[in-house]
Amino acid sequence: MEKLNILLLGSGGRESALAWKMSQSPLLNKLFIAPGNGGTSVYGENIALSPLDFPAIEKWVGENEIDMIVVGNEDPLVAGIYDYFEDKDILVVGPSKAGAALEGSKDFAKQFMVKNNIPTARYQSFTAETIEDGYKFLEQLQAPYVLKADGLAAGKGVLILPTIEEAKASLKEMLSGMFGASSATVVIEEFLSGIECSVFVLSDGNGGYRVLPVAKDYKRIGEGDTGLNTGGMGAVSPVPFADEAFMEKVRSRIIEPTINGLINDNITYRGFIFLGLINVGGEPMVIEYNVRMGDPETEAVMLRIDSDLVALMKAAAQGNLGNTELKEDPRTAVTVMIVSGGYPGDYAKGKVITGCENVTDSILFHAGTKINDAGELVTSGGRVISVSSYGKDIADALSNSYASINKVEFEGKYFRRDIGKDLMK
Ligand code: AMP
Ligand code: GLY
Repeated sequence: MEKLNILLLGSGGRESALAWKMSQSPLLNKLFIAPGNGGTSVYGENIALSPLDFPAIEKWVGENEIDMIVVGNEDPLVAGIYDYFEDKDILVVGPSKAGAALEGSKDFAKQFMVKNNIPTARYQSFTAETIEDGYKFLEQLQAPYVLKADGLAAGKGVLILPTIEEAKASLKEMLSGMFGASSATVVIEEFLSGIECSVFVLSDGNGGYRVLPVAKDYKRIGEGDTGLNTGGMGAVSPVPFADEAFMEKVRSRIIEPTINGLINDNITYRGFIFLGLINVGGEPMVIEYNVRMGDPETEAVMLRIDSDLVALMKAAAQGNLGNTELKEDPRTAVTVMIVSGGYPGDYAKGKVITGCENVTDSILFHAGTKINDAGELVTSGGRVISVSSYGKDIADALSNSYASINKVEFEGKYFRRDIGKDLMK
């Protein structure tokens, strides 16, 4: 069995969880994380490389005999990292640039879904030239109104407006550069009402795929899903309503048409597909595609994979999942994000974090942390540490995470106390 040297790109809680899982693989020789964070050096070596500097990555992987690059976040994928390395002797886990457009362009994603009969909200796309048609389309819809910047907007490009007046005003602002070039095209779509979940699929580009454990994330900063959107405040897996009957619909109506649609369009996709789904009266519909794992879903999902992740990723990147196994751990896993006070608005950085060594019943996945010049662990981002735990059910797993959170301290620490509560009713 040939062991692999792997470079993982990214620096968040998602990459910490991927590194934790990969570091358990008998197939792993050396793991490097670029740039990593204050916690990832437990699993491998942090390397000061930008995930977007492809020539620098190329030079470094050549010097360090890297066999496989695992891309954590979407930016390098949308910028074409897969294509950059395609003719070089190195495996890349992630879609080609054409495949990454499923996340990089909402208009492309909607066209793809319509073409492949994948259930999604009714929509139309508009530019500054067609703004009058946009107003007319809004008038055909019911409140609330959903407006989406076509391109990447750091998770902020979706606006949900309660009145037609606000919707029209926002359409105008978006088309006048509210999100820069990302909102030069705006997708307007029908509002769907239901409960959301995240389904992750590992695709090998040749029709083979594996479905990972399903998770639900909590996006708003405030308890009861109130306040501003964040990168994610916690996650739970499994999701009780995503039962066998629901997942059969997801497979036949969404996953298989997606995999086949990519093949029919000659789009190479050897990586993770993230389906942001909404359950509308028992029927799954697609809210969005992402072309990477979710954050913080990954910090729960990795705990529930009872198979060798490196073997799975390598097989997918080679284009043949073959009979590789993806076994689910039957336990429940949750993660609760500890964030800096003030996030997602302004917040302080450089606050000393204490108590991590006292946590024994949870796994701490560092996100916005670093080691400062004095060798102390300090905060360096809004989302600081994700606290993941197993349990026999959601309540049990949560009680472990909340007990662990009490042991970790830094000035301004905040977290939501209601993660998973909506699923326990
Ligand atoms: P996104 O940035 O695409 O993840 O969208 C952010 C959030 O907006 C989603 O997680 C949903 O909660 C919400 N959203 C997006 N599209 C719709 C829709 N058509 N109907 C209802 N909610 C939506
Ligand atoms: N948790 C949602 C995302 O990663 O986009």
